[in-house]
Amino acid sequence: MNLTAENHSVPLSDGNRIPLLGLGTYGDPRTTPKGTAYESVKLAIDVGYRHFDGALVYFNEHEVGQAIREKIADGTVKREDIFYCGKLWNTFHPPELVRPALERTLKTLQLDYVDLYIIELPTAFKPGDTFYPKDEDGKYIYHHTDLCATWEALEACKDAGLIKSLGVSNFNRRQLELILNKPGLKHRPVSNQVECHPYFTQPKLLEYCRQNQIVIVGYSPLGTSRDASWVNLKCPPLLEDEVLLSIGRKYRKSTAQVALRFNVQRGVVVIPKSFSPQRIHQNFQIFDFSLTEDEMKQIEGLNKNIRFVELLMWSDHPEYPFHDEY
Ligand SMILES: NC(=O)c1ccc[n+]([C@@H]2O[C@H](COP(=O)([O-])OP(=O)(O)OC[C@H]3O[C@@H](n4cnc5c(N)ncnc54)[C@H](OP(=O)(O)O)[C@@H]3O)[C@@H](O)[C@H]2O)c1
Repeated sequence: MNLTAENHSVPLSDGNRIPLLGLGTYGDPRTTPKGTAYESVKLAIDVGYRHFDGALVYFNEHEVGQAIREKIADGTVKREDIFYCGKLWNTFHPPELVRPALERTLKTLQLDYVDLYIIELPTAFKPGDTFYPKDEDGKYIYHHTDLCATWEALEACKDAGLIKSLGVSNFNRRQLELILNKPGLKHRPVSNQVECHPYFTQPKLLEYCRQNQIVIVGYSPLGTSRDASWVNLKCPPLLEDEVLLSIGRKYRKSTAQVALRFNVQRGVVVIPKSFSPQRIHQNFQIFDFSLTEDEMKQIEGLNKNIRFVELLMWSDHPEYPFHDEY
């Protein structure tokens, strides 16, 4: 059997499918050389990746789009083989800004539609082109969001054919319920992209989402890049975990491969980021082994319930999602 991410996908509630493995494309724009995302996405398509996770605020969407378009032009893939997820940033939540923000992503990618478009965070900022608006005292300037109004504007973009599937990210249960219970809801959120890995297994949110046909897309599935400027380093390095190491030895797999396999085996989509050719290859090799029930339980037991991505600088926002238990 030809093992590719294409035939390892899960259904979404709207009838589309999402590949269980995608390539994360966030690299620190201050330290990542120009062209790195472009080269990485091209290589990833050659390796077999079909799902790419990007965003306008990653500042490399033009490179990701160029790589995808070139791989379509050279006949390696067709547009319909590719699954691209884009994200609506915090400064574009007012309904009248939603379609222009999406169109900006489409123009940057030079594609006609995105496969999935998600509200990146429930926390709206002052609307406009300053992505991180701050006042003279250096405090973030927030904005009141009616998440349901934002959602209705997204529904209109889907109806216009610019988006295949609609989802959210960093939403807690209350915020998901707000959308699911919206009077006149036309399109349900198909997915919720949240931090998810063996040290933060999300048992309660996962169960709630399963009950509501919402697929969890796990970000930072390898425990992040451990960049001290935005990562909580109180949580120890995931990839040095002894249990993952010992399970990996049994299958001749790395801790990264065991961590990714754990999630896909329980139906959680993973989007590991790598801009290294060797690790892009390595992270794709997770469909040729499986973990026993006992090993899955052992890994579930590693849960520390500590986030690497706490976003504490926005914890005073009225819609900060992580005060609630889940
Ligand atoms: N929605 C959100 O709010 C949100 C938040 C965070 C992330 N995300 C998405 O999720 C993606 C992944 O999350 P992330 O970037 O935070 O972290 P991650 O995927 O958990 O980890 C990435 C780090 O691990 C390294 N790495 C990759 N493969 C490896 C391997 N096999 N062995 C050892 N190290 C390896 C990478 O370095 P190299 O590049 O050098 O390989 C990089 O430093 C992001 O790129 C982004 O698309 C979304």
